[in-house]
Amino acid sequence: MPDAHRNRGHSPNAQGQHRPALPPEPYDVERVRADFPILQRLVHERPGRLGKPLVYLDNAASAQKPRAVIDAMVRCMELEYANVHRGIHYLSQQTTDAYEAVRGKIACFLNAPSRDNIVITRNATEAINLVAASWGRTFLERGDEVVLSVLEHHANIVPWQLLQAEKGIVIKVVPCDERGVLDLDAYADLLGPRTKLVAITHGSNVVGTVTPAAEIARIAHRHGILVLFDGSQTAVHMPVDVQAIDADFYVFTGHKLYGPTGIGVLYGRRSVLHRMPPYQGGGDMIAAVSFAGTTYRDPPYRFEAGTPPIIEGIGLGAAIDYVEALGRDAIALHEHSLLERATTRLERVDGVRIVGTAPGKAAILSFVLDGVHPHDLGMLADQMGVAVRVGRHCAEPLLARFGLEATARASFGLYNTIAEADALVDAVMAVKEFFR
Ligand code: ALA
Repeated sequence: MPDAHRNRGHSPNAQGQHRPALPPEPYDVERVRADFPILQRLVHERPGRLGKPLVYLDNAASAQKPRAVIDAMVRCMELEYANVHRGIHYLSQQTTDAYEAVRGKIACFLNAPSRDNIVITRNATEAINLVAASWGRTFLERGDEVVLSVLEHHANIVPWQLLQAEKGIVIKVVPCDERGVLDLDAYADLLGPRTKLVAITHGSNVVGTVTPAAEIARIAHRHGILVLFDGSQTAVHMPVDVQAIDADFYVFTGHKLYGPTGIGVLYGRRSVLHRMPPYQGGGDMIAAVSFAGTTYRDPPYRFEAGTPPIIEGIGLGAAIDYVEALGRDAIALHEHSLLERATTRLERVDGVRIVGTAPGKAAILSFVLDGVHPHDLGMLADQMGVAVRVGRHCAEPLLARFGLEATARASFGLYNTIAEADALVDAVMAVKEFFR
């Protein structure tokens, strides 16, 4: 076991900073780590040079995959694979059943009323583009308003800007305060008779803010406005109940949920999905085709043209099983303890500024270090085996809001340890020393 993973000691570290006592963990993290093959490897291993243990703190960008996900995908390809929805033969039926069972799993995962609310996409970005292209093109007219927030990832900005260029819609932006908390009064004031959609993140990928989704939806619905939430950073960290939130649309992606890339989810309210035209045309989404005209299937299939991501779907199903077996409440508790630990220690390092301090934030820790460019910090930390993301995190307007060009960002996952939170802080202190 690598040192960075073993060390849960309480003694002062090499830089003399005292490490607080360790809180109890809600599950055996070492057993969990053993499920992730990649966590056993070393990085920067070269002939004549021993590698470093991998301290993977870039989970908000993409999470690592447990053996259960890898095995499910391999098993599908080896033994249970054929195209779905098309074949009468045994394998096609078997694969269709397995793939459709995943749709049911996703519905349970979000507490959606039915599997028919679940559209399977290639990622969260495609899910938002689907809403913009289908619902937006159909129901928005010149001068109609879409309300976003300053916390958004580019995936929830650019699709609306494309619509702005095409249809002349107006984009309004909810501001946040210095902590990264959305200004709900400003939000309510932005809503007017031309507002047709509120599209806001449920959790910021940069500052970790978890937005009050139910409150946001309640205010919008008072005016008959639809709401879309980007749950890419929340579905993985905490239980999500789309009915309790009263979301009209909710999107998330598979690869941040310990599943494969190439698969995402759009939850849609039934009455809204049924009014939406197809997003792409092709096989599987049609009821009947002739050169005189074509009719379409009901949602969700209407939005799933072409052969779907079958193997990825099987992988996502296994990822949901894995996460549910641990429990999202337990995961949230565990990640919170890592965030607390890293934050408490990092804020005591002179010259560190933590960006985003919203109460109840997700386990995402953005920061800058005086006099050190985040890219230098990231590269040096990487030399110590600590993988963090640096840059603008696909959220340039939010970085601009904080007057920053870039930050370093550590994002914790269900397999990270307190020792790794410590390794992050130790790396930052070492980088600071290096630049003294
Ligand atoms: N959206 C991903 C991130 O925050 C890529 O890093």
